[in-house]
Amino acid sequence: MRNKPIGIFDSGIGGTSIFKEIHALLPNESCIYLADSKNAPYGNRSEDEIIQLSIKNTEFLINKGCKIIVVACNTATTNAIEYLRKNYDIPFIGIEPAIKPAALNTQTKVIGILATKGTLSSHLFHKTTDLYSKEIKIIEQVGEGIVPLIETGQLDSEAMRSHLETYLEPMLRQNIDYLVLGCTHYPYLIPMLTKMLPDNVKIIDSGRAVAKQTQSVLTTLNFLNDSIEKPSIQLFSNGDITVLNSILDYNFNVSYLDF
Ligand code: SIN
Repeated sequence: MRNKPIGIFDSGIGGTSIFKEIHALLPNESCIYLADSKNAPYGNRSEDEIIQLSIKNTEFLINKGCKIIVVACNTATTNAIEYLRKNYDIPFIGIEPAIKPAALNTQTKVIGILATKGTLSSHLFHKTTDLYSKEIKIIEQVGEGIVPLIETGQLDSEAMRSHLETYLEPMLRQNIDYLVLGCTHYPYLIPMLTKMLPDNVKIIDSGRAVAKQTQSVLTTLNFLNDSIEKPSIQLFSNGDITVLNSILDYNFNVSYLDF
């Protein structure tokens, strides 16, 4: 079991922000990443559709022999992880927006969260925000249109800047000092967001915490790779692999998959 790969899936290429953190923290682990770009974005889909797509992705990774599955998509985590945990006998790691550190550290008592409609309307998300919303104000903003721009490689575009300006304006007017990125695609916007936000507004995403959680679960299960062989990294996408290739820092093995 220890030498089997870590499976990671997302609605598209955004979950590579999580894959990169996992690979940096656990360089000895083999990984299989699945980008379901053909069906992106998940954020406007019904809970049932998100569960069905997550089942398909999970079964693909189980058939590839993965020992653990990281659901590197906030929308799939908040809508499908309970179902997956109940129905598959494999450990799952999910991604939840990093509201806790923002809520505990805010000075202005106002934080902003940018996420998809599917995440913000989910039961799991409200369970978390309800814990903090008596002490602080949480401004929720749907990032409508952002994921399709990232999926089509328009990261540094005028259209992206214009969307972000619209979404940040009400948050800045209400004096946020933390912006929580509640979608794994959004860390790719950090360079643009940093230029647009005042210096006192900190950006938080969940990537590092998810990598640490993956390490901790693998350690507890005694599943950490102990082989001296070079780990294998494979990425699959059912969308445009040139976009996926363009956001990776190294020359990983990316394959098109008719899936
Ligand atoms: C989406 O597919 O709409 C975004 C994925 C996410 O929530 O991380």
